[in-house]
Amino acid sequence: MDGNGRWAKRRGKTRVWGHIRGAGRIKSVVREASDLGIRALTLFAFSTENWSRPDAELTVLWKLLKKFLIRELEALDREGVRLVILGEMDRLAPDVRGVVESAVKRLSGNSGMCLSFAVSYGSRREIVHAAKQFADDCVRGVRKADELVEAKGEALFQSYLWTSVLGDAADTDLVIRTSGERRVSNFLLWQSAYAEYYFTETCWPDFDAECFRKAVREYGARERRFGMVDSTERVAGDSQA
Ligand code: IPE
Ligand code: MG
Repeated sequence: MDGNGRWAKRRGKTRVWGHIRGAGRIKSVVREASDLGIRALTLFAFSTENWSRPDAELTVLWKLLKKFLIRELEALDREGVRLVILGEMDRLAPDVRGVVESAVKRLSGNSGMCLSFAVSYGSRREIVHAAKQFADDCVRGVRKADELVEAKGEALFQSYLWTSVLGDAADTDLVIRTSGERRVSNFLLWQSAYAEYYFTETCWPDFDAECFRKAVREYGARERRFGMVDSTERVAGDSQA
């Protein structure tokens, strides 16, 4: 969800104003994703690098997350949305954590779309955490290092990532980046190994349900081969003989 600050600056407003308008967009995109039957939607709300922003901005960002979860809880529940958090939960202030945990708990029994907020999230951090946990399990004798290079080794490692809560929807299909940036910025690096990327100039506060539909439509028109070849294509000269 990038571009709140620039969007506001272009309008002669403060960055905080941009965040407020950006937060206002979340609801419609979540509803659209759920209506389209998307199984998992992850919103990159706050990166590990974002901690170094000015305190005044951080205060607003956390307030907006709490506000969204409190205000939208009923509606999310009605839609059957499940909520998960990806990131360093232990770094969140107790009040933010309280709101987040109770929202996660309240929506935990739902079986509709899984909405995840990546907060204090960094993909490298996630991978390093997973490596440490796996190493701890090896020391405890629960795992053996060799298991990682066996047939199901990658799936095993994946089960240590924060996104393991997404089950078989953990592999990212589409990454949408707003605001004209063409970077990955430490987002779901492992999970996006075969993802399609969609870049748009639109800043997050202008990114509405129609923009989301457009991205999904474009994704639908792409051919995904996962390193393989189209099964209908002729490969060698066998049929020419
Ligand atoms: C995205 O908007 C919101 C968060 C990262 C929390 P930015 O704050 O990154 O906006 P720009 O990139 O400065 O325009
Ligand atoms: Mg930005």
